[in-house]
Amino acid sequence: MAKVGLIVGSLRNGAFTRLMARALPELAPPSLQFFAIEIGDLPLYNEDLETDSPPAPWTRFRQQVRSADGILFITPEYNRSIPGALKNALDVGSRPWGRSAWDGKPAGVISQSPGALGGMAAAHHLRQVLLAVNLVAMPHPEAYIPVVATLFDDSGRLQNAQTRELMTAFLLAFATWLERFPRSSLS
Ligand code: FNR
Repeated sequence: MAKVGLIVGSLRNGAFTRLMARALPELAPPSLQFFAIEIGDLPLYNEDLETDSPPAPWTRFRQQVRSADGILFITPEYNRSIPGALKNALDVGSRPWGRSAWDGKPAGVISQSPGALGGMAAAHHLRQVLLAVNLVAMPHPEAYIPVVATLFDDSGRLQNAQTRELMTAFLLAFATWLERFPRSSLS
């Protein structure tokens, strides 16, 4: 069993990104166990706060990241990049210097958009940051989900058959990707 921390890039209520995150456990192989790592309460990264008692949400976040065997990011695209809240979370997890919570973990990237391009620019900006923090992102299959507003029913369930198939295949590949890496010592 691999513990997968799910990080959603959108903070808004009713985010399509969060709906997609909720759809994943049902589509994943049984070897993946998901838990949410929230980013909305993280104070903006400021090195002055990096004392012996940093902000409690930073500590909670770093512990959750450390406890994960892998991290799966699901993000919208903001101005052809990732939302600032997600970049802040990546920065918070990367410090203090030399004690990054991300270091060496496997990761996956899913982007989505109500538009036709599926948030591809955000996914690639995110991959650039993952390189910097030594999160090892699964290269393939890629997952850019377009026209996301049309994929869910009124109750928020992912009803689009093609997307369900795509996510099922992605998660199967992600489970195989995770097997290449050692399990977190905190699992
Ligand atoms: C957007 N949106 C957007 N969409 C896109 O495909 N490319 C982009 O560059 C942007 N830029 C952007 C900037 C900002 C500040 C906002 C608020 C929105 C639209 C975005 O994809 C849309 O609002 C999604 O619904 C956001 O995802 P969630 O919150 O539904 O998960």
